[in-house]
Amino acid sequence: MVIHSMRSFDLVIRNATVATASDLFFCDIGITDGRLTALAESLPPCNKEIDAKDKIITPGGVDSHCHMDQPMPEGIQMADDFASGTLSAACGGTTTVIPFAAQEKGSSLKNAVEDYHRKAAGNAHIDYAFHLIVTDPTEEVLRNELPQLIKEGCSSFKIYMTYDDLKLNDEQILDVLSVARAQGALAMVHAENSDCISWLTKRLLSAGKTGPRFHADARPLLVEREATHRAIALSELVDVPILIVHVSGSEAIDQIRWARRHGLNIYAETCPQYLFLTAEDLGLEGYEGAKCVCSPPPRDKKNQEIVWNNLRNGLFTVFSSDHAPFSYEDPRGKKLGGRKVDFPYIPNGIPGIETRLPLLFSEGVGKGRINIHQFVALTSTNPAKLYGLYPRKGSIAIGADADLIVWDKDRELTISNDMLHHNVDYTPYEGFKIKGWPDQIISRGEIVYDKGEVFSNKGRGQFLECSRHETIL
Ligand code: URP
Ligand code: ZN
Ligand code: ZN
Repeated sequence: MVIHSMRSFDLVIRNATVATASDLFFCDIGITDGRLTALAESLPPCNKEIDAKDKIITPGGVDSHCHMDQPMPEGIQMADDFASGTLSAACGGTTTVIPFAAQEKGSSLKNAVEDYHRKAAGNAHIDYAFHLIVTDPTEEVLRNELPQLIKEGCSSFKIYMTYDDLKLNDEQILDVLSVARAQGALAMVHAENSDCISWLTKRLLSAGKTGPRFHADARPLLVEREATHRAIALSELVDVPILIVHVSGSEAIDQIRWARRHGLNIYAETCPQYLFLTAEDLGLEGYEGAKCVCSPPPRDKKNQEIVWNNLRNGLFTVFSSDHAPFSYEDPRGKKLGGRKVDFPYIPNGIPGIETRLPLLFSEGVGKGRINIHQFVALTSTNPAKLYGLYPRKGSIAIGADADLIVWDKDRELTISNDMLHHNVDYTPYEGFKIKGWPDQIISRGEIVYDKGEVFSNKGRGQFLECSRHETIL
């Protein structure tokens, strides 16, 4: 008598060594209709198979801080739209992105989200959710738009303490944090003291210090420390968790550690630029340093080491790219208006969505600075949990989306911009030698990348509604 018949799979990955945020196990993986439907010692033959002998399988990456096709001030334009940005993400192992639907001051937040949906739909190669950027917390935004958008699946938002066109004052921050508390949203804070930056910038410019290298002098560690401290105090006052984005070095880290010691729920994110670049890169020949201008700026070797240590010891919850793509030669990019502009006018941000995972895999896991479980937690599982996408994303478990990376841990290569799929004319990691690169990348059961060949179509990515924030620390 036949008790049951096993449904055939669309894809089987055989001989897998699976690494999750907590476990390492050996199995065959069965995928049906885009989801993981079997993890077994041995599965029957399937028409489509990948032999993963000697490979490592991790969940696809979740890049929870990246910018693409974001509205910019007059004359400036991001090099990546959803098509090129998500293709580049996919080819580096990221299968979910969370870029930002940004409110412009004086405009509605709801309209910003509607516009952003139009930009993403039909273009995204992989699944995407939206963070919001709140720049103008009017009564309408606080009472109606923000609560409604959180209900509709945009349950996190970024607020800025610097940049004239984006920043909020402390009272406004308290107002939006109160909405986060009431509605179960997570606020992400760009913590730099705006007035200090503007005071330092004026002094540097009047002393003739105008080149890209002076960007770092205008934004020293203490500027980040003070704003991080203030953001923590504001979060304590409202009694709501926050996440400090793109933490660059020791001083902000000390503030976050202090907050944790005092029982405050403060999450922290860091990015590749704080592990692999230094302020010296801003002083490269001629105007080349503009390629590494981002905020906060990269620091020094000592701070790189401190950031590594705090990835290892658990201070950081997520590792994101902060991909902010501006081409070097483009008059709408780093050479704004076709000129080598003074440092305050250089569009801030650097590309890195495709290199995020391979860099951390090679220099973190490969060199023993973090283990493979920490790698998975930082790049996939924690961001999925933090932003309400878990366990659909960020996990290898029955029922989860079949978003997977098959890693060739032994592949040695030299990063060059030619091999990347973004629409930016440079990578700050040109010439970096790394070990380990994805062989295959699988997004909802489809092999979208196979040993350098791309099999994805734009428009296959789906919008993901994020559930409300739940504490994970
Ligand atoms: O310089 C940076 N990080 N630019 C991107 C925008 C932001 O603040 O994250
Ligand atoms: Zn920022
Ligand atoms: Zn950013």
